[in-house]
Amino acid sequence: MLRLAMALGVGGLMAIGSAAAQTYPSKPVTVIVPFAAGGPTDVAARIYGEFFSRTLGQQFVVENAAGAGGTSGAMKAARAAPDGYAVFVHNVAPLVAGPALYASAQYDPLKAFEPIGTLAFAAHYVVLRKDFQAKDLKELIAYAKANPGKINYGSAGAGSATHLACVLFGQQAGVDIRHVPYRGTGPALNDLVSGTLDMMCDQGLNMMGQVPTGNVRPIAIAQATRYAKLPDVPTSAEAGLPGFEVSAATAFYVPAGTPAAVKAKLVETMAAAYKDPLTRKRIEDLASEVPAAGQDTPEALGKFTASEMARWTEAIKAGGIKAQ
Ligand code: MLT
Repeated sequence: MLRLAMALGVGGLMAIGSAAAQTYPSKPVTVIVPFAAGGPTDVAARIYGEFFSRTLGQQFVVENAAGAGGTSGAMKAARAAPDGYAVFVHNVAPLVAGPALYASAQYDPLKAFEPIGTLAFAAHYVVLRKDFQAKDLKELIAYAKANPGKINYGSAGAGSATHLACVLFGQQAGVDIRHVPYRGTGPALNDLVSGTLDMMCDQGLNMMGQVPTGNVRPIAIAQATRYAKLPDVPTSAEAGLPGFEVSAATAFYVPAGTPAAVKAKLVETMAAAYKDPLTRKRIEDLASEVPAAGQDTPEALGKFTASEMARWTEAIKAGGIKAQ
């Protein structure tokens, strides 16, 4: 590569880069999802992947590379060739929390990846197995106080958003609940439905499909306003835990060094996806939102990623959170 660069000179390389961008994509694109199939990151990636495939005329194929709270997939994406044929989708909190928790996570999220756009914002909910004895958040907290370490909750692994949200819940409610890590929130939700788990601090994007059937019971939304499609679910403040507010953001990135023209094509396609009624509906039906004006650019995602990095790195240190 060094010899090739010297022979062609920088101008020659740029010409190759922009020619490749003009025909991009000329083969299928791999979308690396760092969690198990069926969870929110996977579902959002597939919804947008379908739009990208339809619009760009090449398949955007999801590859699930789960493990270590999303850091295995992040390592894979960080090492992928920066040519536009590897797109990386991650939930922003675990993306930035991973390196603070895992010695094996040898990447700097702000340097290894460049932002393309946010796919969805989704509030977290405190959600119980259908027959759990507490009827609301106050009863849950009272039960947890009386039975330290007895309630178990599932997450997508240490450092995942579903883990961090329940750590915050435990800290703010002053309760000790037991963490059971999975390779993704999809498999954890299956165990909540079957009754193996007691609770989760799950994203609407994951849980929503199970709510109408009564298979799981959301008892509080971790934000300041109720969600219109679940009007009976109180906010955390209404339910007795003011300040417990946490939402997930799932986003597309590419490995650093991806040609600017390729990134521009992906960003342009993302902007079209935000306007596509079917894509919007599929996201909104899962208790989530596509980014509003001002949040819908790679720059906004870049800033958000950096501010989340500071926030979660601090929270992990302050809370003594460990990858277990
Ligand atoms: C998380 O909990 O961080 C993810 O949303 C997990 C997943 O997508 O399965």
